[in-house]
Amino acid sequence: MRILMVASECFPLIKTGGLADVVGALPLALGKEGADVTVFLPGFPAVLKGLSGKKTIKEITSLAGGPAKLISGKTDRGLSVIALDSPHLFSFDGNPYQTKTGEDRPDNAIKFAAFSKLAADLATGKLGPKAFNILHAHDWQAGLAPVYLNLAEANVKSVLTIHNLAFQGLFPYSILPKIGIADRHYTNDGLEYWDQVSFLKGGIIYSDHTTTVSPSYALEIQSDAGGMGFGGLLKSRQQSLSGILNGIDLEVWNPETDPAIAASFSATSPNGKAKNKTALQKKMGLRVSGSTPLFCVISRLTTQKGLDILGDLTDHIVLSGGQLALLGSGDSAIENKFRDAAKKHPTEVAVQIGYDEPLAHLIQAGSDAIFIPSRFEPCGLTQLCAMRYGTVPIAGRVGGLNDTIIDASPAALAKSAATGLLFYDITAHNLSATIDRAFSLYKTPKTWSEIRQNCLSHPVGWRRSAKAYLDLYADLLEI
Ligand code: ADP
Ligand code: GLC
Repeated sequence: MRILMVASECFPLIKTGGLADVVGALPLALGKEGADVTVFLPGFPAVLKGLSGKKTIKEITSLAGGPAKLISGKTDRGLSVIALDSPHLFSFDGNPYQTKTGEDRPDNAIKFAAFSKLAADLATGKLGPKAFNILHAHDWQAGLAPVYLNLAEANVKSVLTIHNLAFQGLFPYSILPKIGIADRHYTNDGLEYWDQVSFLKGGIIYSDHTTTVSPSYALEIQSDAGGMGFGGLLKSRQQSLSGILNGIDLEVWNPETDPAIAASFSATSPNGKAKNKTALQKKMGLRVSGSTPLFCVISRLTTQKGLDILGDLTDHIVLSGGQLALLGSGDSAIENKFRDAAKKHPTEVAVQIGYDEPLAHLIQAGSDAIFIPSRFEPCGLTQLCAMRYGTVPIAGRVGGLNDTIIDASPAALAKSAATGLLFYDITAHNLSATIDRAFSLYKTPKTWSEIRQNCLSHPVGWRRSAKAYLDLYADLLEI
């Protein structure tokens, strides 16, 4: 089965969030199950630089007003990639979608429509290399690929995965003639969404099947409350909508071999975790203490992630005898709350604003617990990385967090099944009460180490979900 994955990000080449992790890991897991997968990416400088064995497989004289080439190559993990090298569209560094000042790039619609059109042409075999059986598009950036495929009436099935319904790819109506889509598709059951064009809606409507990244989120988005305007549409398409849980790459996140951490450890030999705690406290300038509960955050600092609420509870954490190590960036008001907390409690709260992959690994290895108080969370990957590194998630009971964490309720504790702490509604009062609950569990070392042990042995890889995707592809192809 030949599968073309179409996405704007892929770890380790280019990443702004979990989408990249999924696109970097799922194809490898599908490959292990026997599928033949190629990832199609925009040719950002970092993507072209990160590929080895590059070959030009097709030259295109004009694409959206400039020349383009399709370049094939491999990542250092052996993933097959085709990159769309088109300098007038993708030759810039930094965030792929926004300028340095945080505005959406003005030509996003043109760029990602051109990218999606070529994805469809690649899938059908129109551009030379062999055709594909399945085109699997991710998020709004690839949302038009199923649309173009459908318009070409090709014999290729398409899947769209929604990683976050908050990002809908909305553009003015005037874009349509520039991206080669006829007016007749600008309807309520086509690309029109509240007087705009939505690339994500196009992908949902024109694909053969829509998935999202956890079963709970698949249900939440069919409601008015969780659907962000798409609730009715998604409910009406529930026969072709399903939730398949994300995993993480067990080689990238492996506490037995991770070069970014201070000492290796595993479920059967967890002692090295204590050395990582000391190393993390030293590295981030925290008071070194093995017995102080060390909480962490590794995240985009946004209201989606509920970190505005956590920002108001740093005094509470410190006065209760805990420490906080935070790595992240995002809304400046939230950044400032944490910066102020670090100034106020310099030995107990450490804050690094920015993006730092190796530090994220050390924080996961050295912390006792991680906060993910999300208001909504399609899947979430940091709780999976945390569990793999024996760090207990404290999270909102939403989306994929609900599907991957077993709350330390009295019943779960009695059955030795707990892997974290969940709470709902996402309010300061409820988070504060959950923090208190964490302190009280931590005070009984036997209980805390049992929860940590459950985390360490919880399966967080891709195997099961890769099989679920393969079953879905096979159903669509009727094989
Ligand atoms: P989202 O995609 O919504 O941001 P996920 O939990 O799915 O959330 O994925 C986030 C990914 O980005 C994880 O791999 C996490 O480790 C990583 N990450 C987030 N913020 C940072 C940061 N500041 N530095 C390094 N890695 C980060
Ligand atoms: C999005 C979601 C996150 C999910 C990730 C990968 O960024 O916010 O919950 O884990 O995509 O699917």
